[in-house]
Amino acid sequence: MDKARILIVDDELILRESLQAWLSRDDYHVEAVAGGEEALQRIREVHFDIVFLDIKLEGMSGLEVLEQVRDLDPDTVVIMITAYGSISTAVEAMKKGAQDYLLKPFEPETLNVVIEKNLESGERIRENIYLRQQQKEQARFENLLGQSRAMLEVFELIRDVAPMESTVLISGETGTGKELAAKAIHSNSSRCQGPFVAVNCGALPEHLMESELFGHQKGAFTDARETRKGRLELACGGTLFLDEIGEVSSRMQIDLLRVLEERVFYRVGGTQPLKADFRVLTATNKDLREEVARKAFREDLFYRLNVVSLEMPPLRRRKEDIPLLADYFRNRFAQETNKEVDGFSRAAVDEMMLYEWPGNVRELQNAVERAVVVVKKRFIEPGDLPISSQPQAESGDLSLAGLEKAHIAQILEQTNWNITRSAGILGIDRSTLYKKINRYNLRQKS
Ligand SMILES: Nc1ncnc2c1ncn2[C@@H]1O[C@H](COP(=O)(O)OP(=O)(O)OP(=O)(O)O)[C@@H](O)[C@H]1O
Ligand SMILES: [Mg+2]
Repeated sequence: MDKARILIVDDELILRESLQAWLSRDDYHVEAVAGGEEALQRIREVHFDIVFLDIKLEGMSGLEVLEQVRDLDPDTVVIMITAYGSISTAVEAMKKGAQDYLLKPFEPETLNVVIEKNLESGERIRENIYLRQQQKEQARFENLLGQSRAMLEVFELIRDVAPMESTVLISGETGTGKELAAKAIHSNSSRCQGPFVAVNCGALPEHLMESELFGHQKGAFTDARETRKGRLELACGGTLFLDEIGEVSSRMQIDLLRVLEERVFYRVGGTQPLKADFRVLTATNKDLREEVARKAFREDLFYRLNVVSLEMPPLRRRKEDIPLLADYFRNRFAQETNKEVDGFSRAAVDEMMLYEWPGNVRELQNAVERAVVVVKKRFIEPGDLPISSQPQAESGDLSLAGLEKAHIAQILEQTNWNITRSAGILGIDRSTLYKKINRYNLRQKS
């Protein structure tokens, strides 16, 4: 490592000079200044590994300087220098992000101990970042990122089922990456050169759905002026991804079942059987087994679709993926917006780790995107993130629904009840947000 850079900030000339002389004998690069302004000036110009900062300074107080150093260069270790009588201030300084304090008068040797200890921990932090970056190479599967055990298991399952022709039912909460998982299966299958055709089964009314899926023959119905291929036909040679499969009507369930059993289908109004040469993947954020139990979903179709089941874990069950994902999104959005955003403050990371992410990865992605847009400094702070660490589910006395309600209310206030923006931040669609507003009886304060 390069020479460690140390800055001493103290208004006592003697202390300054003797410390500088003492430390310069060792292999450190040492500078000393008398006041806060000068110190900040230097810190703006170059990085210091350690800053020794007197609590009592003329002009700007040590605490004010500390706060600004944390903003300017969060990687700098700050050690407060304090006298008896101001220990409580030193404790406050530690809460504000100082790493340690030295009590005056001290033996110069103490200084070396403190320096070595803190340089070493700084080194370790950097080493961790390095390790994390190395892991990052392996911590992705196609476009899915993750290094948690839960995600590594997902990757393994995808790798195993991809080459087979079996249908896969991908389940999981909104925003957990179900569609990305489907694409990853397709890309790793023998059909990867063929098309990947996605159909959102929740988006279309039944009468349009049929012709959307199966296509139609010219003259099959009044509007059918031309013969048109449906999604099934377009998916031939590749993969058909039926998203939101829990939303299909009972009529359509019968039609799909027939296709899966007979492996042929017909255009609406057509008589020519077409070969169902595609692999079927489906996704749902409903508990389909429950839908079967309450007779809203056909059991025979369920078993056809659920040959292999892939469950995408919610983000709150794999919080160790949060730093990796957050950093990936930060980097991406910083590049897209041409902004220099170097990372997250420690407090911002803590905040993200505490939060429960009801909208899962999509919500995290949206939160980071917003933070990159609004951040004024090079490091994202908690205030830049559209989340706030209320007591979370683990605290017991609060119900999940209560938390969700409070969170939604807060986002709505933040956006001045802009439904589109709120839905975006929450990572849910507008109709879901409306449903929740009604369920929780939320009203705009006038
Ligand atoms: N593991 C991940 N790594 C990187 N990006 C992810 C990951 N999981 C999700 N995303 C991103 O989050 C967003 C939501 O993912 P996706 O659309 O696959 O979720 P979904 O489960 O299909 O959600 P929904 O149920 O709401 O349709 C996408 O922008 C996707 O790129
Ligand atoms: Mg989806």
